[in-house]
Amino acid sequence: LKVLLIGSGGREHALAWRLAQSHSVEKIYATPGNPGIANVAECIQAQTIEDQLAVAEARKVDLTIVGPEAPLVAGIVDRFRAAGKAIVGPTAAAARLEGSKAFSKDFMVRAGIPTARYRTVTSIEEARAALEEFGFPVVLKADALAAGKGVIVVRERAEANHSLRLLMGSKLVIEEFLEGEEVSFIVLSDGRTALPLQPTQDHKAVFDGDRGPNTGGMGAYCDSRILGASEYRQIMDAVIQPALDLMVHEANPFTGFLYAGLMMTRNGPKVLEFNARLGDPETQALMFRMSGDFASPLAAAARGDLSGVNLEWHAEPSICVVLAARGYPGEVRTGDIITGIDEAEETGAVIFQAGTRNSEKGLVTSGGRVLGVTASGADLRTAIDKAYHAAGRIHFAGMHFRTDIGARGLKRYAAEPV
Ligand code: AMP
Ligand code: GLY
Repeated sequence: LKVLLIGSGGREHALAWRLAQSHSVEKIYATPGNPGIANVAECIQAQTIEDQLAVAEARKVDLTIVGPEAPLVAGIVDRFRAAGKAIVGPTAAAARLEGSKAFSKDFMVRAGIPTARYRTVTSIEEARAALEEFGFPVVLKADALAAGKGVIVVRERAEANHSLRLLMGSKLVIEEFLEGEEVSFIVLSDGRTALPLQPTQDHKAVFDGDRGPNTGGMGAYCDSRILGASEYRQIMDAVIQPALDLMVHEANPFTGFLYAGLMMTRNGPKVLEFNARLGDPETQALMFRMSGDFASPLAAAARGDLSGVNLEWHAEPSICVVLAARGYPGEVRTGDIITGIDEAEETGAVIFQAGTRNSEKGLVTSGGRVLGVTASGADLRTAIDKAYHAAGRIHFAGMHFRTDIGARGLKRYAAEPV
């Protein structure tokens, strides 16, 4: 297969790295890619959907895989399919499950999928009234795409006005605060059937102990112990299958990766958000744990028939620690020289690149999340130690990272019988 990968982040580097090890893959192209992806793929500067389609046609690409949400919401899948090109991802209409929080919440209610109570408001006055109704803590969500940063948990009344002003657009979703463990549950769908990936846990807040503003994700781990068998069944039966079924029923079938961001509450799993794509940095941990040929299931999903298809996984848990640039998740400084990647990889870790670019000074930072240090181990503790050992060999000015990725898992497993 000749494969085209759309995107330029750490998620796409991890996908490219895994696909490069697939026997059925003969060549990988990436638009636009990044310096890390360039180690395993040919990167081509094509930014618009039309340019990307032209690349797929000129290079006789067999299968296109879309990383980020923006091209999905803009209709890349519709355009490729109309041109007869196989592609993994949802149509623009189906990607509204991620693209619009209001659409997504209304959909969950129609499907009977458990989610937080909420209200959609269109003015500051309405928002204030809703806040009185919900009390504190309460969660504010901007309606449109915000790269994981459009959500604020308002802990007390004094913070409410400031947060409202930050997020109020034409629409705002106000919802009940839920307590529990968060789980990222991602499935690959052919429209009807769901092929689940392993569960992962992301770390959204920028600082240790889940403090500070939300980011796109500061690290993730992948461990089969994240969910018990009955929790897993509940998620498939109460969330995933009802979502896919209602999409079919509403003549809007969902193909590609459906990502349910879940809160495992005392009353069962509740959906915090749907994404229409793989998570970042969840994908880095997932690709590290996956074994076997990932291109075949992807091609089957694009063909619309996942029956009889399986995914294979290593038993060892994996973890990805994000090294972020100075200022992230606010305004970031770029252009800082990165050193130590080769030394870090000598430890057995793999360093996925996200916000990097080549310059005359060598590899430099070019975005908020710069690198994803990814490793696995016989148990979660070992995986964590390996990733941090490797991270210690990397340097760039202003680098910061969380030191507690995976710690919630360790705490939970310590309390459980083996
Ligand atoms: P979202 O983009 O909707 O997943 O929200 C980003 C993050 O905000 C989530 O990963 C949670 O950590 C937090 N969050 C969102 N909604 C809620 C909620 N209803 N209750 C508690 N935390 C939430
Ligand atoms: N890591 C969270 C996301 O990809 O949305």
